[in-house]
Amino acid sequence: MDKRTFIKQFSAIGVATTLPFIDVWARAFEPVSHLSSELLAKNEDFWATVRGGYVLNEDYINLENGYYCMMPRDTLNTYIRNVKEVNFLASRYMRTVKDDNRNRARQQLADLAGTSFEETVITRNTTESLDLVISGQDWKAGDEVVYAEQDYGSMKDMFRVMGERFGVVSKIVSLPNHPENDDEIIELYARQISGKTKLLMVSHIVNITGQVLPVKKICDMAHDKGVEVMVDGAHSFAHLDFKIPDLNCDYYGASLHKWLSVPLGAGILYVHKDKIHKLWPLFAEEELPRDDIDRLNHTGTQPVHVELTIPDAIVYHQLLGPERKEQRLKYLKHYWTTKVSDHPNLIINTPFEPERSCAIANVGVKGMNSNDLANVLFDDHKIWVVAIDRPGVQGCRITPNVFTSTEELDAFVDALKEIAM
Ligand SMILES: Cc1ncc(COP(=O)(O)O)c(C=O)c1O
Repeated sequence: MDKRTFIKQFSAIGVATTLPFIDVWARAFEPVSHLSSELLAKNEDFWATVRGGYVLNEDYINLENGYYCMMPRDTLNTYIRNVKEVNFLASRYMRTVKDDNRNRARQQLADLAGTSFEETVITRNTTESLDLVISGQDWKAGDEVVYAEQDYGSMKDMFRVMGERFGVVSKIVSLPNHPENDDEIIELYARQISGKTKLLMVSHIVNITGQVLPVKKICDMAHDKGVEVMVDGAHSFAHLDFKIPDLNCDYYGASLHKWLSVPLGAGILYVHKDKIHKLWPLFAEEELPRDDIDRLNHTGTQPVHVELTIPDAIVYHQLLGPERKEQRLKYLKHYWTTKVSDHPNLIINTPFEPERSCAIANVGVKGMNSNDLANVLFDDHKIWVVAIDRPGVQGCRITPNVFTSTEELDAFVDALKEIAM
């Protein structure tokens, strides 16, 4: 595929790109363009070219891309240019083109998500998106919510505050690390639903283990019982190849600085059009119709150069290709986990079935504290990971990115085996 074909593809999605990496990428893609995503996932030469698009710290191996995903060089340069441009134009930028640029980014984000402009807004992160949905409900004492022990702390904290403030009752399920099948998970949630349940929260990808949950089936089940579903998509957006409407959820929030590699401080909130009118905003906006999602999106003056960079991050993501990216990430996780899955002293806290995980997995060493494991990995082997110490999940979360090489994973596997001897 040549440069012109790429540029044409991007103009078709309304993007004028200045990414110099396109040239390099197009040349590397040409000889492998006939390969399926599954086969391309194993082509180290191709992915070495992708790696060349990043400025990496060669002092250590970064297997902690779950917190946030660094920008590739091109997006970083665009971002720096945007910071300078906004600073140069100062209030003139804010008073003339800021809103148009924000709306352009918002439309492109909605296109990527498969949602409409009217149901999608740019926020600062998942926390803002989901806490807005939680705190924005008309809660009554005794209303119940259902979520999992393994969900993210900030949302669980917000449900606790709703309990203290309005008497909302949390019904908490505990997810198995290795479920037998989808029904086992769906049943867990279904059993906690009562006539008082108003909202169910489910993580698309569980952040501590990387387990992918059968969200669509959970939404269908909850809707059959008249319960709305809010999806925590912090780790799934631009990681798994899907569109938000595929999930059949009512609310979805994610952080764009995770898998879309947008600069730090951007998120997405989707609210189904029929649910917008019932939410209260976090910060009050000027009077707008109840069903206008902009009513929920007032946050004051913001670092606008972040949202200004969203279109370039989307171009980069489209260039890699959502399916190619998912397959590579899946392959990398499979690559290292299969090398240690039989080890008697290692525990994999993530399902092995390909449909139940993607890039992220969690591994523990029997009898070893997860913080000690993370410290030894960094101090003795120069491998950066995060320790997880939660009920049923003691280990380190391992998150490769598209620039991770199998050579790096081999080094990680060797280190694990040495530590677990
Ligand atoms: C599942 C999940 N939800 C929400 C968040 C919060 O993301 P942010 O801090 O970007 O708001 C995270 C952060 O890692 C997460 O893993």
